[in-house]
Amino acid sequence: MGPLQIKDILQTAPENQSVVVKGWVRTKRESKNAIFIALNDGSTINNIQAVAEPGQFSAELLLTVTTGSCLKVTGQLIASQGAGQTVEVKISDIEVYGTADPEEYPLQPKKHSLEFLREIAHLRPRTNTFGAILRIRHALAFAVHQYFNDKGFFYLHTPVITASDAEGAGEMFRVTTLDLNNLPRTEEGAINFKEDFFGREANLTVSGQLEGELGAMALSKIYTFGPTFRAENSNTTRHLAEFWMIEPEMAFFELKDNMDLAEDFVKKVITYALIHCKDDLNFLQNRLTEEEKNKPQNERSLPLLEKLAFVVDNPFERLTYTEAIDILLKSKPHKEGKFQFPVGWGIDLSSEHERYLVEKHFKKPVILTNYPREIKSFYMKLDEDGKTVRAMDVLFPGIGEIIGGSQREESYEKLLGRVKEIGIDPENLWWYLETRKFGTAPHSGFGLGFERLVQFVTGMGNIRDVIPFPRYPKSAEF
Ligand code: 4AD
Ligand code: MG
Repeated sequence: MGPLQIKDILQTAPENQSVVVKGWVRTKRESKNAIFIALNDGSTINNIQAVAEPGQFSAELLLTVTTGSCLKVTGQLIASQGAGQTVEVKISDIEVYGTADPEEYPLQPKKHSLEFLREIAHLRPRTNTFGAILRIRHALAFAVHQYFNDKGFFYLHTPVITASDAEGAGEMFRVTTLDLNNLPRTEEGAINFKEDFFGREANLTVSGQLEGELGAMALSKIYTFGPTFRAENSNTTRHLAEFWMIEPEMAFFELKDNMDLAEDFVKKVITYALIHCKDDLNFLQNRLTEEEKNKPQNERSLPLLEKLAFVVDNPFERLTYTEAIDILLKSKPHKEGKFQFPVGWGIDLSSEHERYLVEKHFKKPVILTNYPREIKSFYMKLDEDGKTVRAMDVLFPGIGEIIGGSQREESYEKLLGRVKEIGIDPENLWWYLETRKFGTAPHSGFGLGFERLVQFVTGMGNIRDVIPFPRYPKSAEF
């Protein structure tokens, strides 16, 4: 089935056996005695070296073997003469599948800025950095499915098109087939969505949670893993308009169980990457070390692998929102007026506050719980004091919030009260409310932003660089 992958060929003992290698040229180097071609097929960060003798091929053919061109190379697998690799291919034949004119091909063997690579997202997977990121992203996705499968969860496919706003934040993309130049109107002059495709207003989902809860009320433990859309106009290094979210939802889990699961889950998937993505992580670690060379010693971060091991090996700090506010109020930056945003009970923590707690105060991941009800979603279970809800946010160094979740309000009356209070029409959520009417159960869940996880594991500073084709304000090319 198809050719051998370079990853496997590199692991094969060289016995002069004949091999076929297919891949893209990373570099070509000619010396007096030999021509060296480094080929990569994306199966690994490592290239295979193919060697020809001068004069073995016509100058015309060799001119088309340039960085970015695609080749089929036939030859013998031999022990490598040079340093840096154990095997190499002694070329007997070259077939050029596709040329890449060096005058036009934008990826030359030199350092390109991440900003420039974003403009050529159709080609950036061919760079070492993006190849590594994409392989790690795959490994993490696989580890997510493996983790939940092993724990008895069922993968539930929740809809991408919905008529409800799960988070109640109203930052949704509309889905419509109406002719925008000729909108149907009601007698009152409003847009008549009855004539739209679904006979009502519809949007791209901001979360699969509400449907996930329906699944948990039947299968006990489910998870979703799908694309999620938010039309927040935030041009930050941590927000995308289209991102992937993993949302487990568990019947009979209380907040403590939810925290235990979240912590175990992220640790296990990071461990999977540490075991299975060594070459790629090493490459990214060196890349980061190189980047930080010019920074003063005390501003440099831990080497990537140490940072990941640290998160896996140490318990996350757990405290309530109220305790966190106390810490912030007593903190130096607060006392010296260094925080940009004010601190006080009831505020929505901003990223500077979260980063202070995680990076300066505790120096490890933190789980904050029991937030004021006013700043959290309507579905979260009310605490006995009536002021806070059983929410939990997991905060990571360099990332901030990586997970948001809660125990859910299982009381029909209380949930209905909250729905009305924040101005959602209960009619729109009748099916969600019915789960609390028929066999309601204590339950909990959370959402992990997959790209924020990939960002953390790869050490990439910008979330736009950990998804193949990012969507953000004013950008939907590719
Ligand atoms: O905290 P959020 O909004 O929670 C929910 O959507 C719940 N329904 C989850 C649940 O309880 N089932 O989002 C969850 C996570 C955040 O912690 C963050 O990691 C990520 O999703 N996230 C984003 N990632 C990238 N770009 C954005 N615009 C994001 N918004 C949220
Ligand atoms: Mg959140």
